[in-house]
Formats: sequence, C-alpha cells, structure tokens
Amino acid sequence: MLYSTIDKATGFEKRFEKIGTIVYENSIIASKAIAQEIAELIKEKQEQDLPCVLGLATGSSPKGLYAELVRLHKEEGLSFKNVISFNLDEYYPMEPDSVNSYVRFMKELLFNHIDILPENYHIPDGLLTKQAISDYCSKYEEKIEALGGIDLQILGIGGNGHIGFNESGSLQNSKTRLVALDHITRVAASKDFLGLDKTPRTAITLGIKKIMEAKRVILMAWGEGKSNIVKASVEESVTTQVPASFLQEHDNAIFVLDKAAASKLTRLNTPWLVEKIDWTDRLIRKAVLGLALSLNKPILMLRDADYIENGMSDLLADFGYGHAYDINIKIFNELQSTITGWPGGKPNEDDKNRPERAAPARKRVLIFSPHPDDDIISMGGTFKRLYEQGHEVHVGYQTSGNIAVADDEALRFASFVCDYNEKFGIDNTNASAIFKKALAFLKNKRTSEVDSPEVRQIKGLIRKGEARSTCHYIGIPDEQIHFMELPFYETGTIEKKPLGEHDFQITMDLIEKIKPHQIYAAGDLADPHGTHKHCLDAIFEAVRRLKSKPFMEDCWVWLYRGAWQEWNIDEIEMAIPMGPDQVLEKRKGIFKHQSQKDGVVFQGADSREFWQRAEDRNKETADLYDQLGLSHYAAMEAFVRWRF
Ligand code: F6R
Repeated sequence: MLYSTIDKATGFEKRFEKIGTIVYENSIIASKAIAQEIAELIKEKQEQDLPCVLGLATGSSPKGLYAELVRLHKEEGLSFKNVISFNLDEYYPMEPDSVNSYVRFMKELLFNHIDILPENYHIPDGLLTKQAISDYCSKYEEKIEALGGIDLQILGIGGNGHIGFNESGSLQNSKTRLVALDHITRVAASKDFLGLDKTPRTAITLGIKKIMEAKRVILMAWGEGKSNIVKASVEESVTTQVPASFLQEHDNAIFVLDKAAASKLTRLNTPWLVEKIDWTDRLIRKAVLGLALSLNKPILMLRDADYIENGMSDLLADFGYGHAYDINIKIFNELQSTITGWPGGKPNEDDKNRPERAAPARKRVLIFSPHPDDDIISMGGTFKRLYEQGHEVHVGYQTSGNIAVADDEALRFASFVCDYNEKFGIDNTNASAIFKKALAFLKNKRTSEVDSPEVRQIKGLIRKGEARSTCHYIGIPDEQIHFMELPFYETGTIEKKPLGEHDFQITMDLIEKIKPHQIYAAGDLADPHGTHKHCLDAIFEAVRRLKSKPFMEDCWVWLYRGAWQEWNIDEIEMAIPMGPDQVLEKRKGIFKHQSQKDGVVFQGADSREFWQRAEDRNKETADLYDQLGLSHYAAMEAFVRWRF
C-alpha cells in the first residue's frame, strides 16, 4: 500500500485502533498522498481500458485534495476521461447554481478544471419534487451497481461522526435517501448559509450500504476539532450513533489524518499505554497530570501503586528511583512555577523559576487579536494586568471582522446616519449618498448575498468602534491601537483568500515599528481553515523573516487560545490567575462588543455568549489547578510560549 512507509514513520504501535490510520504532519501533505493514490488508480484503470468509479465528498476536508488533482491534471497531464464519479450528497432543496450547492462546489473546485466528461459526473439533484426523490435515489444506486460499484470512496467526517449525510442513528444497510440534517450538522453548515435559520433542514445522501460496498474507502479528517470523533470512530465500539464507526467492518478502509485530528488516538495521546516509550520531560508531565486528573487526586497524593497500575511503572523505576514522591514533587513544582500574577515579568525579582523575564521592567507588548474581540475574550485579564503593571501595550487587530456583524445591526447604524443627515440638512453630500446606498442594499438583500463594499465598510466600522471602546476601557490610548485589516480576510464571504505577501508585510511592519519584548498571538489550531489559523501563520512567517534583526533577540512570543477552547493543562507555560472582581472587569470589557452579543452570526454549536464561554473556560483552568493540589483561584488565563 502506498502509505506503508509513512505509516511506520508515525512510530507507535496501533493496538487500540480498529481501522487503519495514517497520520501526516499536516493536511497539505496528506491531501497530496491521497491524490497520488487516486492518480495511480485512474492510470491503472486506463491501462486496463476500464472506467474508474470514484465516490466524492464535499465540505472543507477535500479542498486540498481537489486542488492537488487539478494540479496533477494541469502540470502532469493526468487525464480524468475514464473517471465516472458519484458525489455523496446535496442539500435539498437546492438550486444547482446557488453559492452553497454542492454542484457549484464540485464544478468550481474540480470539474471545471479537469477533463472529466460532463455526462460522467453525478451529484444528487436538489431540484426534484419530493415524490420523485425515492425513484431517483434507486436509480442513482443502480447506476453505481451497473458500473460494478465504487472503486474508491472519498469521505469526510462530521462532528457527530456522520459520513455523507448519514447522521447519527443511520443504519448500516441504509439506502440512498432524503434525510433530515442533525442540529450539529446544520450549525456547522450555517456559517456558509449566514445563519442557522437560512440553513437547509434536509439533504439527499448516498446510503451507508453503498459506502460500505465501495472497494476502498479513504476518510480524511483535519484539525483538532475532529480529534474526539476520530478516536470514537477508530477505537470505540461500532454504533449507529457514530456512523463512521461502521468502517471498522470494512476490509479496506483507512483514515488519513493530520496530527491534530489524530491527537486523541491512544498511540499519540497516551503512548505509554501502548508500548515502552522514551520518557521526555513533556511526556512525563502529560502522563502525571493525566494520571492525577483521571484518579481525581492532587499530584502530591499519587502513590507508587497509582503509577504501577496505570502503565507507568517504568517511569517510576527510571525517574523516581522507585518512589512516586520524587516524580510528584518535580511535576508539582513545574506546575506551580507556571502561575504568575506578572505576565510581563516581576521587576527586580529572581526570574529563574518564573515564566517571564524580570527585565526590562517596562516592556513593549504587542497583542495580536485575529478578530476585534479575541484580545478581551481570551486574555482580557492579562491585557488589563499588563497595562496596570506599566507596560506599553499595543493591540494589532488583524482583521476587520466585518462578516460577523448581523445585517440588522448594520441597518441600525446606517439608518442612524441617514436620519441624522436628514435632520441636520446634510443628506445631499457624497458621504450621505454612500449610507443611503448601503441602506437600500440592506433592505433588499437576498439570502446569502455577499455584502456590498459600503455595507462591509459599515460593518467593519462597527467592530472598530467596539474594539476601540474595549481598549479605552482598559486604558490604552488611540496611538497604541492598530487596525491591520489584513487583505486575506476581505472577501465578504466565509471563504478567505490564501495569505499573501501583503498580509506578511503589514504584520512585519507593525512588529518592526513597535519592536516588542512580548508578542501575544492567538494560537488557535482547532480549525485548520479558519481565520485564526491564517492570522497565526501570518505572524509566524513575519517573525521568521524578522528573526535575524537584533530587537528580535529580546522578543518572546506567547500564544493564547481563541474563543473556542483552552490549552491542555500539560501544555500551559504561563497561567495568570484572576480574582472574582477581575472576572467581572473582564466581563465588562467583553460587553463593549455589542454586535457580538445576544445571538451572533457565527454562533457555532455552543449557544453560550462569548463572555459566558470565556468565564467558564477560565474557571475550568483554575479548577484544574485546584484539583491538582495548587492554589484555588476564581479564574485563570493560560499561555504557551512559541520558541522561534
Ligand atoms: C460532504 C459530506 C459530509 C462532510 C462532513 C465533513 O459531502 O458528505 O459528510 O464530509 O460533514 O465536513 P468538513 O469536511 O467540512 O468538515
């Protein structure tokens, strides 16, 4: 098999895995490997003068794969003339040329750029009448059967384990049919449809039976967000609740994963349960903290038997000279020294065991905030402390965040300006004409229509005002607030442009101008296609390019997590504690983002407001420290250092 060498390279034995898994460094390399396998299959079939029947998926996961197939066609002459393809699904009802149709997706990302014959690709028809669907689905399956079945089925996986749109509860022998979409699926799709209420409730999907009959199945998953469901599908029992787990019963199915999506698999998460490992400091810390938490014991209460009975007796023998106490105290001390009330370093103090340097006592700090509210949501307590402890704090708002402003919010602001202009007799100016145009656009806006440039400007201004208001609340003067408006973001849609030179340059310029001793960046890797990842990549690239400049020798980069999750306890290198009053202060800072309150455009699966998520998460971190036997705080913000 194509992957075998890389497979070995991942190291650990796969004793716990019931489906073959291949883990790659990232989704780009992984997508190329899958494209290579497809290309070889197509060529093999060409040599035998046979059609190559492919089952294809949509969604974010296969985008890199399709880009690579297009490249193989354009640059390496791979022909798709013998390919006959069947897509897994389509929303219902759905116009084929709508921006969100899978027909449009497939044409724009693949079919329009290769030489597949138009009569050879099949995508379920979203325009059928309800009565016609059942017949249509039977014929869809008959066509596949007439060709001898699917040679290679490509799949993504939903957060609930769906494959195609076979949601939790689907039967293993389910046929191609009309299905109701799960709430979690609709929430994931709602970002494309600009709101849950506009997201379809039903879809036509290929049934699980036909997927299981495919001669080979490759399921791909990228990003930490998929890691739990990947583990459930691969290591836990087969259940209708997780349809991807049916693939355990397929004799030629494989999961192709990036490191983040694979991170919860036993061999990667707790490798000491799989085989003898070389214990590094990182692994010891992870294992000991994991042990204490799973046994619900403070670190210093762990006993020899706890280590021995949980696959860690070699650790005890090597590092503890047989005593749990030696390891316990080492990890306890390490964790204790992550806690500091001085994120910018404590002036004139011994800093040997502190996360930050004492000098210089007054640091220049640059906080990068991907969206205009990430700074306050994710590190508001630290932000305030840095300011109060006398550091020169700058904030770089990386994107305008304009698409996350609801139309009615923009309408309110545009109406305000129009009314004002009218009242004061200045509605004949050019500026007034712009607002009138925006108002007219918003009043007549069609579902999922991309905003006009004027409306985008207004939405961006709303968010700018909110960010400025938070900074003023903290105490930051205007000249230390920087709106970067990175161009990759400015598409007016969810789909962002790739990062370009301009994005790097803007980021480098700001770093060079401030020459910071500390950079804070959102290290959000859960969504490999998201804005946070792009913003982080822009900073990484800028820092790499600037690295040889003398001022960079004094620059430390701290990563905070975005709105959605926190670092694992074993990764945290600096934890800033907060008391109850500081928690309330932070809440008020988040409230400045009025356009992001009371139900936002991109709510996600979590119905809590951002301030609630932030508070819950900061409390959870504090509770973990408490549970492990350290001091009890109301809340904590956590950081990991990036050593470039
Ligand atoms: C798409 C499909 C779905 C997706 C799944 C993952 O044709 O059938 O099962 O593969 O929802 O979506 P992404 O890749 O966007 O995370």
